Amino acid sequence: MTKRVYIKTYGCQMNVYDSARMADVLAPLGFAVAESLEDADMVVLNTCHIREKAAEKVYSELGRLNRLKRRRRASGGEFLIAVAGCVAQAEGEEMRRRAPFVDIVCGPQAYHRLPELIERAKSDPARGAFDTEFPVESKFDHLPEAASPQGVSAFLSVQEGCDKFCTFCVVPYTRGAELSRPVAAVLAEARRLVGHGAREITLLGQNVNAYHGAAPGESAGGGTGWGLGRLVRALAAIEGLRRIRYTTSHPLDMDDELIAAHRDVPALMPFLHLPVQSGSDAVLARMNRRHDADAYRRVVGRLRAARPDLALSSDFIVGFPGESDADFAATLRLVEDVFYAQAFSFKYSPRPGTPAAEMPDQVPEVVKAERLAELQALLKRQQDRFNRAAVGQTMPVLFDRPGRSAGQLAGRSPWLQPVHVDADARDMGTMRDVRILAAHANSLAGELASQATAVASVPDAAEPERVPA
Ligand code: SAH
Ligand code: SF4
Ligand code: F3S
Repeated sequence: MTKRVYIKTYGCQMNVYDSARMADVLAPLGFAVAESLEDADMVVLNTCHIREKAAEKVYSELGRLNRLKRRRRASGGEFLIAVAGCVAQAEGEEMRRRAPFVDIVCGPQAYHRLPELIERAKSDPARGAFDTEFPVESKFDHLPEAASPQGVSAFLSVQEGCDKFCTFCVVPYTRGAELSRPVAAVLAEARRLVGHGAREITLLGQNVNAYHGAAPGESAGGGTGWGLGRLVRALAAIEGLRRIRYTTSHPLDMDDELIAAHRDVPALMPFLHLPVQSGSDAVLARMNRRHDADAYRRVVGRLRAARPDLALSSDFIVGFPGESDADFAATLRLVEDVFYAQAFSFKYSPRPGTPAAEMPDQVPEVVKAERLAELQALLKRQQDRFNRAAVGQTMPVLFDRPGRSAGQLAGRSPWLQPVHVDADARDMGTMRDVRILAAHANSLAGELASQATAVASVPDAAEPERVPA
């Protein structure tokens, strides 16, 4: 009998990718993916630990799952609860106390061991199976080939973990040391994704531009490996792959080779998420970001010189310990100088075990809230301006989803803006020229340009130049 697993994903794109890979691991055990909790025999929460709110969500969800499990057991059924992801890694032991009904706890580097953990949990239900040790080798050496279809726009993790140790961040503790997958494994997975219909691939890593994967034919750990720029060039040669993106990058790892790829590789999209966190040098130093605000401005300048229509996005933290009004004003200045097409901003959330949580001069909640509102208003004005500038332009849109209503498709502009268009369902997976008619809060609306061409004949060089300002 087929069993069903419901996988609920929190947090970043790496978790989205990992959830698909967990489905790949569970498929040989007879698990199909369930569309809802109601018809699931097992649930996996793939969790996020980045801010307190994200972690707390998991415990409230677990309360609901415990009630469901009791009802199932009462009627003689089975129901396994597994917690994966960054909360599992960070709080495995605490979870055993706070939620003893959890059957399996599995950290982000141990997904290939899920079959064994399920066995263990079933044979000793009272104790369950907790596995949050970082294995010496990478999960990528053990996972089955990625098989879960991802559609037109696919994620591909090429790098995992982080050695940067920003003082606010849990990632180095939850994901472990920085590690790059070998070039050959990445290219093989990319070809399979394209074979399954992917036309856009987003390369993922907590620190993706630190990528240094073993070159083809080189043993892992031997040699210096390929950087991300070289990897992007090799991926661009895959026939059928139209668009390449990558996220998330650190300003320090933006090397010449990668910047040159932005100049030379038309498939590399002109949109870059390059988090700066703060515009104050004093705050950046206490965050251990290891660059100042002007170094960031210079990197952005070099990127824009290479690709003049590049649009930028960032993450910001307001209310980091010791952040003064002058520090915050420096962040607003940086935003004014750079101009962001889009951005995420957060109130600083002290995370247990990170250095910043112990720093003096924690900023009061009300101050954090005021600063966040002010920063978000500025970012919103920039985003609106960027989206309005698209109206009247014609740009290639890759249709990757059904639209809001029948007869509509949705896709992305080169600058990652969602675009809604009246189009035939058969156009799904194609890239078409679209004339932008209107800009809404978070999306654009357009119509197919008269000379719309199918994927194969859209010349990349025809993508419009667009300076955001
Ligand atoms: N590797 C990426 C960030 C990954 S975490 C980078 O280097 O930028 C995603 C974002 O969450 C971060 O960019 C940061 O803005 C935010 N974040 C991380 N820890 C946080 C904390 N303790 N409080 C508030 N926001 C945080
Ligand atoms: Fe966290 Fe990113 Fe800093 Fe690494 S570089 S510690 S993932 S914020
Ligand atoms: Fe969250 Fe872990 Fe990603 S903490 S942001 S799920 S790396």
